[in-house]
Amino acid sequence: MCGIVAYFGRKSAQPILIEGLKRLEYRGYDSAGLALLHNGAFEVFKTSGRIANLEEMLPAVTPDAGLGIGHTRWATHGLPNTINAHPHVDYTGKIVLVHNGIIENYATLKKWLLKEGCTFKSETDTEVAANLIGYFYQKNRTRDGRNCPSDCNRFEWAVQQALNEIYGTYGMAILCLDCPDTLIGIKKGSPLILGVGKNEFIIASDAAAIIEHTSQAVYLSDGEMVTICGDSFSTKTIANEKVDAELKEIEISLDQIELEGFTHYMQKEIAEQPASLETCLNGRIDLKNGRVVLGGIQSRLRELARTKRIILTACGTAWHAGLVGEFLFEQLARIPAEVEYASEFRYRNPILEEGTIVIAISQSGETADTLAAVEQAKERGAIVLGAVNVVGSTIARMTDAGVYLRVGPEIGVASTKAFTAQVAVLSMLAIELGRRRHLSNEVAENLLKELVAIPGKIKRILDQSDVIREIAAANIDKDNWLFLGRGFNYPVALEGALKLKEISYIHAEGLPAAEMKHGPIALITDGMPAVFVATRCAQYDKIIGNIEEVRARGGRTIVVATEGDDAIGPYADHIVYVPDTVDYFQPMLTAVPLQIMAYHAAVLRGHDVDKPRNLAKSVTVE
Ligand code: G6P
Repeated sequence: MCGIVAYFGRKSAQPILIEGLKRLEYRGYDSAGLALLHNGAFEVFKTSGRIANLEEMLPAVTPDAGLGIGHTRWATHGLPNTINAHPHVDYTGKIVLVHNGIIENYATLKKWLLKEGCTFKSETDTEVAANLIGYFYQKNRTRDGRNCPSDCNRFEWAVQQALNEIYGTYGMAILCLDCPDTLIGIKKGSPLILGVGKNEFIIASDAAAIIEHTSQAVYLSDGEMVTICGDSFSTKTIANEKVDAELKEIEISLDQIELEGFTHYMQKEIAEQPASLETCLNGRIDLKNGRVVLGGIQSRLRELARTKRIILTACGTAWHAGLVGEFLFEQLARIPAEVEYASEFRYRNPILEEGTIVIAISQSGETADTLAAVEQAKERGAIVLGAVNVVGSTIARMTDAGVYLRVGPEIGVASTKAFTAQVAVLSMLAIELGRRRHLSNEVAENLLKELVAIPGKIKRILDQSDVIREIAAANIDKDNWLFLGRGFNYPVALEGALKLKEISYIHAEGLPAAEMKHGPIALITDGMPAVFVATRCAQYDKIIGNIEEVRARGGRTIVVATEGDDAIGPYADHIVYVPDTVDYFQPMLTAVPLQIMAYHAAVLRGHDVDKPRNLAKSVTVE
């Protein structure tokens, strides 16, 4: 969603903020801004568009302006124009802040503040927060007439009073004109990390903006605030209870967030999959004994194997991985499983019998809907596990136990390497639970041997990038595509369609191939591309029938087939081959050519692959 970066130290803040914002631009990119507190005044610069636009309007760097906040926005309330861009200065001119999240009761608060004489310039919910803090700071008393205690820092107190009034989610960085040596950060429902360097501090919504300066960080929990004052910082809850800050090592490195010769992050992340998947599996598979060793949940595996039901919950691409997970748990572990959209699950008053396991799948570990589903499941007494990529993220910390994906930072908005790792993690878990229930050691061992071979097989698919590019080019003028698959390749069809939609803006629909005849077949017209994931699998013969149905109506078939399957030639206008594997693991292979196809289609159409319009990498609002 939005990206926040704030700096307080002995260096000049401006270039550090700009650099940090560039690293966070994948979180939101419809407008950007920064504010410096210098010589007793706020210097605020903001504009619609990308960070590059902001950079162009900035004055020469002021070396001794060492305190500032910056923001890159993904609009929720109000158009993505300059007025609505952050930072927002309050009506008194004393407070300036940047915000990620949503203030749900902003309309009620705005009405009250207007009655109290506050003025507003923007249409944002964020300005309500700025005005609310400014109001309490100026009045120096609560709504029921109590003054700020004399031993309290008034700026900090005003922030706390304002937050008592606010419902919603926020990560914020706040400055006060009267406190040129103070920077406050607060977190609830949106990520916020404090980087602690030598004589400098960086607050950011993502470690990517911090790692260049320090690897030491404090990951704030929900409802916590940090006040940096001079050379030191303190953490407390918004309710003013002291919290002991724990310094942790940031686990990502600078090279992981650089392009390293690739044109786009998505391209890099697709290419990384053999290595990222290997890291995901590394040390977790004991081939000698046919076992899986998942450190984060090892002590709970016995309990997990006894469960009567598994619910997987996630959004977007992670939901597609969850659908593969549903099939894996049912088929390998024989445990009833179902995947739920987190956004629906959270509001459905779900029935969770005792001992139900809920698995939340999330790359970022910050998706608001998934987070809410986790809360809901915990409240109802379920055991909640996480399959999360970002270490220390909110979901990773909220779940009872979990397995990290270990694929390193994923920056391209369209998720790729996280998907294959999510499927790999769910595969490992399903095999281990299956082994503890009914699978013979021999079957488990054979499956694990096949699983460790998957990264090498992905390499062979990557080598076909040029062939896939030609297929994309041959169909690039087509505005409607179908993606069809059956069994384990049905979720891949959904994922292939999502990838194409997200970055090339081509309308695409993913379907279980047999469902086509119940409606979508009416869409087939002459030359319409239909991508079939038709590898050698249990439903191979059936899907050939579906391909024929499309061809009979003039559709153009793009087929993902198994290496060596020459018989499929007559059914395909275009073919991409993937290596053979067991049905269970096919999604980790068959998703890759579809990722590559979407990538090339977007490039051919001239789109910004890493920053697709209207999308954000991590959706921290409902
Ligand atoms: C956004 C991203 C998707 C992602 C989804 C879930 O919509 O654009 O790529 O799949 O959020 O994100 P998560 O971080 O929870 O996996």
